Amino acid sequence: MYVCLCRGVTDSQIKQAVEEGAQSVREVNDLLGTARQCGKCGLTTRDIVNQHLDAM
Ligand code: FES
Repeated sequence: MYVCLCRGVTDSQIKQAVEEGAQSVREVNDLLGTARQCGKCGLTTRDIVNQHLDAM
């Protein structure tokens, strides 16, 4: 599922970034470019990152 339409980033890519070592929402945003244009994906990205960090 696309989370960030501006950058074409999916939830799978966000989870993969966490699995590969990203420790925070900011790190994921820096890596993938999420929440860097319109910002609409910011809350969803945050939720996915935090849920995935908790699950690991
Ligand atoms: Fe992610 Fe616009 S949808 S920055």
